[in-house]
Amino acid sequence: QRTMIKTAVMGYGTIGSGVVEILEQNKDVIAKRAGQEVELKYVLDLREFPDSPVADKIIHDFKTIETDEEVKIVVEAMGGLNPAYPFVKACLLGGKHVVTSNKALVAAYGTELLEIAREKKVNFFFEASVGGGIPIIRPLYRCLMGERIEEISGILNGTTNYILTKMDKEGESFENALKEAQNLGYAERNPEADVEGHDTCRKIAILTAMATGKEVNYEDIYTEGITKITDIDFKYAEKMGASVKLLGTSRMKDGRVNAYVAPVMLDKTNPLYAVNDVFNGIMVKGNMLGTSMFYGSGAGKLPTASAVVADIIEAAQNLEDHVEIGWTEEKQAIEPMDQASFRYFVRIAGSYRNKEQDVKSLFGKVEVYELYGMDEFAILTQEMKEGEFKAAAIAFDTKEQAQSDFGIKQMIRAML
Ligand code: HSE
Repeated sequence: QRTMIKTAVMGYGTIGSGVVEILEQNKDVIAKRAGQEVELKYVLDLREFPDSPVADKIIHDFKTIETDEEVKIVVEAMGGLNPAYPFVKACLLGGKHVVTSNKALVAAYGTELLEIAREKKVNFFFEASVGGGIPIIRPLYRCLMGERIEEISGILNGTTNYILTKMDKEGESFENALKEAQNLGYAERNPEADVEGHDTCRKIAILTAMATGKEVNYEDIYTEGITKITDIDFKYAEKMGASVKLLGTSRMKDGRVNAYVAPVMLDKTNPLYAVNDVFNGIMVKGNMLGTSMFYGSGAGKLPTASAVVADIIEAAQNLEDHVEIGWTEEKQAIEPMDQASFRYFVRIAGSYRNKEQDVKSLFGKVEVYELYGMDEFAILTQEMKEGEFKAAAIAFDTKEQAQSDFGIKQMIRAML
């Protein structure tokens, strides 16, 4: 007799509907790999979808899923924390496996949810929460098990990478590019989470926790978004053979961790320079491995849903077992941003000729760039500690103000 495993999908938005589509389209391969057919029993959503293929499966009350013994695997694709967190917790406590694409949930409550999954001998999987369709969570945990991870650095947000690429390559405005990303289903419901760097912050927090095996509080990670990046910055970048990318980076050494999210100028030789549009790229450096790069579709319906479906299959293969993945309750401290080192790209009002002395005395040896017809110039410093740079920048601005001039207009960290 053929057995069948029943699942429920919570949230019929971009990802939830993608999961439903893949469960149907790839039914045969999924059944083969899961060892039994995976049948969708419910789709939980506040809305009705009368013309959709799941019209007769739509339910509005979470209790229906929670109390149905037949449902063994629950997909959480609602996003946000409420009600995703209480629903997921209730499922795990009730002995159901949970698969989620929700990085906000994993970053905020992962430690507790992983603990419950261990206790209840079920699985809590979240491959889709970082890098969309790119395999990164499981490779980091499993394939690189023999490594000490020293660095993870990546473009982890499809929406902002799409925006920056359009601004760079097509001279598009920030607002237009954001609208396009929203239309393509890449952006978060509240796009502030993308453009202010919060989404990248949660993702690098999750990856850091995977690498250290300890809990990382995402609020400890310095986070800066891309809203202050302008077309003028890209003009300088072009001159310098560089581009601006939003990076999430974490460096780990002797138990100490440096982590940040910020737009960074990268030059053409950096592999992340070539990661464009909605694609994500993640570089992982291990002490034996050297550097490996993971590249692929970082957001969007089917790529992200594909990672969710893989997790469903792994859960189906391990219905009676807890498969260890993730981190424990032990806390990982994050070093203050002042300790990090970069080169700094700085745009300054006025002419270099008038400010050369102050620039040199405060920032030391710098490279100078000028754009034709603009009453400003830019410098690129040598590598400095962030704390030292900040002190120099404050001193510079103070001097400039005394001369009733306007000083620093822009600062972008650089790896050139
Ligand atoms: N808004 C996210 C992004 C979705 O643009 O990358 C994928 O996590």
